[in-house]
Amino acid sequence: ESPILKRWKISFSVSKGKETIMIYLDNAATTMHKPKEVIDAVVEAMTSLGNAGRGANEASLSAARIIYDAREKLCRFFNGEDPRQIVFTSNSTESLNIAIKGLLEPGDHVITTMLEHNSVLRPLYEMEKKGVALTIIKADKRGRFSLEEMEAAIRPETKMIVCTNGSNLTGNYVDIGKVGEMAHRHDVLFVVDASQTAGVFPIDVRNMQVDVLCFTGHKGLLGPQGTGGMYVREGLAIRPLKSGGSGVQTYSKTHPREMPTALEAGTLNGHGIAGLRAGVEYIENTGLDTIRAREQELMWRFYEGVKEIPGVTVYGDFDSRERCAIVSLNIGDYDSSEVSDALLTEYGISTRPGGHCAPLMHEALGTVEQGAVRFSFAHSNTEEEVDIAINAVRELATEE
Ligand code: ALA
Repeated sequence: ESPILKRWKISFSVSKGKETIMIYLDNAATTMHKPKEVIDAVVEAMTSLGNAGRGANEASLSAARIIYDAREKLCRFFNGEDPRQIVFTSNSTESLNIAIKGLLEPGDHVITTMLEHNSVLRPLYEMEKKGVALTIIKADKRGRFSLEEMEAAIRPETKMIVCTNGSNLTGNYVDIGKVGEMAHRHDVLFVVDASQTAGVFPIDVRNMQVDVLCFTGHKGLLGPQGTGGMYVREGLAIRPLKSGGSGVQTYSKTHPREMPTALEAGTLNGHGIAGLRAGVEYIENTGLDTIRAREQELMWRFYEGVKEIPGVTVYGDFDSRERCAIVSLNIGDYDSSEVSDALLTEYGISTRPGGHCAPLMHEALGTVEQGAVRFSFAHSNTEEEVDIAINAVRELATEE
């Protein structure tokens, strides 16, 4: 076990004294316990960085160096070809909007799945209004979709498949290597939403044949909110959503076409990117596999503890060992918001109820009305916290 992980376990174990117990199990929304290294990096950046590419002074150069180093680290982390193919955005939503709106044209056909978050669905619905044909592959009651069905939906005019690497509601993992291989066999672009997996699951964009990888910085990558980015395969040109200041080619009336500047108009979030860079370093030092194994261990412990409680319904595919550290459930026919409120006020446990911005996934699970209570784990959680959560679910289910 890495010393960093050990330190985390100690510092985040449940306080038993007079202090309020705060058990944070909403890590799929954002990881709240950031490594000290990330916090220190942001503070340091906020006291020392200028504006990257906007001057030759030491502060500006420091910002440029840190941002370039973050690009290099992320490029290596996802096995991209060149750091210039890593673009910084404010989150996965922005990355997905750039990929979807910047690659599709009227007359194109695009395929996605019922697992998707609104950050994929809403840009696609907008493109549908502009003349793009959209096919949404159905998911079953356990939140799974069939790759064969996806392949059968491909037509001559299919331009892109866009899908998640892991459902933010069920935690079901999607084998993007298989989807990428299939997409490329048909000469179709493959765009991945890695919001729930970047920083936790190994992602090798070249091996998995991903054309565009969209990621956020504030979840598994352990960085600050407002950070995120995308990997764009070398040679793939995306129409930018924004144009403006770039620090170069000032007298040209058009925004530079060179990557990554082509997709990065305006001042970057240098302070946040410094934190994101520290997050990637932390993951590399701790070990991606160590982090994932720990999260999954806690998730399975919780699942085993709640799955047979009378009145509790758990959603998703738990036959597959490979899954995100998410367990969504309901107690009887109680509204998920009421249960989530009770967990918070009676037990100090933070969860996310409701629709999770995944309307079609709830449709497939049959939980549109009730929503679901989502428990999502991080490697910084403890067995003790998980056991308190299991006990809380049991008590609430018994009250019912
Ligand atoms: N997409 C985030 C979630 O699943 C915010 O909660």
